Amino acid sequence: MNDVKMSSDGESDPASSSDDVQSPVRVRLRNKKISTEDINKRLSLPADIRLPDDYLEKFNLIGPALFEQPISRRLRRVSLSEIGFGKLETYIKLDKLGEGTYATVYKGRSKLTENLVALKEIRLEHEEGAPCTAIREVSLLKDLKHANIVTLHDIIHTQKSLTLVFEYLDKDLKQYLDDCGNTIHVHNVKLFLFQLLRGLSYCHRRKVLHRDLKPQNLLINERGELKLADFGLARAKSIPTKTYSNEVVTLWYRPPDILLGSTDYSTHIDMWGVGCIFYEMATGRPLFPGSTVEEELHFIFKLLGTPTEQSWPGISSNEEFVTCNYPQYRAERLSNHTPRLSSEGVELLSKFLQFEGKKRISADESMNHCYFSNLGNRVRSLPDTTSIFSLPEIQLEKETKKPTATPDPGNTHTPHTGNIPSRRRSLLF
Ligand SMILES: Nc1ncnc2c1ncn2[C@@H]1O[C@H](COP(=O)(O)OP(=O)(O)O)[C@@H](O)[C@H]1O
Ligand SMILES: [Mg+2]
Repeated sequence: MNDVKMSSDGESDPASSSDDVQSPVRVRLRNKKISTEDINKRLSLPADIRLPDDYLEKFNLIGPALFEQPISRRLRRVSLSEIGFGKLETYIKLDKLGEGTYATVYKGRSKLTENLVALKEIRLEHEEGAPCTAIREVSLLKDLKHANIVTLHDIIHTQKSLTLVFEYLDKDLKQYLDDCGNTIHVHNVKLFLFQLLRGLSYCHRRKVLHRDLKPQNLLINERGELKLADFGLARAKSIPTKTYSNEVVTLWYRPPDILLGSTDYSTHIDMWGVGCIFYEMATGRPLFPGSTVEEELHFIFKLLGTPTEQSWPGISSNEEFVTCNYPQYRAERLSNHTPRLSSEGVELLSKFLQFEGKKRISADESMNHCYFSNLGNRVRSLPDTTSIFSLPEIQLEKETKKPTATPDPGNTHTPHTGNIPSRRRSLLF
């Protein structure tokens, strides 16, 4: 239980003294008043964190000495803790947002900054040490700094739980779909897809795969910024089928090669899910809502055609495929199913939905697809941490709010979910 220590900056500290070695970088701040920016830089806090004035005062009293010498990791942790980071009492827990694959997520408020936060609480009672999913998520997220990836603000490790503190976003994409009556403005579909690709391209360049892309793991704020969240499975050795609370992990966004037993995990694994999400945003319906692996593949083959040795070399020697003995479906026209998408959109969609991983378009390449040409060129050359909405030509369209009381009649596949509020409901699959 105590063998992994998490500091509030997320670094595990094996209690060695090597991290106290003096850094050659000297910070000269003598005779200069310490600003929030200095503190942020010094302590590696997220750039957007605003500390209250009385904390600044405190730092100007005790701070100068600290700021004159190179800081050690241990000292940094002490000073972070002095500000209030790494402590549960710094956050007020508000409503429960939901229970996901391995954690319970609450809305919260930071007493430090007054900002809303999301508290992802991972219980440690039944585990030996912090669960590896959480450790993986933390170690990955610390290094991912991008406008389309959720920011990790703080980490709190107690005997009973590990809590990750994230920036708060208003809703996930599932709830966004519900709130606009499953009809997202087509221009916003494009903006969301572009941001998804932008975040993913950043991850893939760093050899980080997400592996659990689905609307519930994409968060959207009021400005229309979409951010990738939930990197819990990003480095797992295998993809689980059940959550810790024994709920089934959704198969809807899983590519056919993985469904048929491939363990060749590479960036292509995420691109299939992008296609499914693109379709779902454009039509308001999940593309392949199977409840078993066999049914999932059945849905896929029914739309894209049952694969043959020609369309998918090697498929005829896949045991699982052969034993299921699927009917010989012919590929349907994608455009018949996506009336709201332009022909460029349909063309891009078909490039995501390739049976073979290596044939799928990459995140980077897809951002250059002609479907996005009316967004202009500047969206592709923004600095990583700059939002696309910083460009005046990028504007979110207003959604027409529709009541969500009646389920979409066109969607015969949607499992019955009763009267659970949409955000929580979305966590059930
Ligand atoms: N930063 C956040 N802001 C707002 N809501 C969030 C945030 N992070 C997660 N949520 C909500 O909580 C749900 C579960 O969080 P997630 O990180 O996906 O956990 P899990 O690994 O348990 O699925 C998400 O689907 C979303 O609805
Ligand atoms: Mg999740």
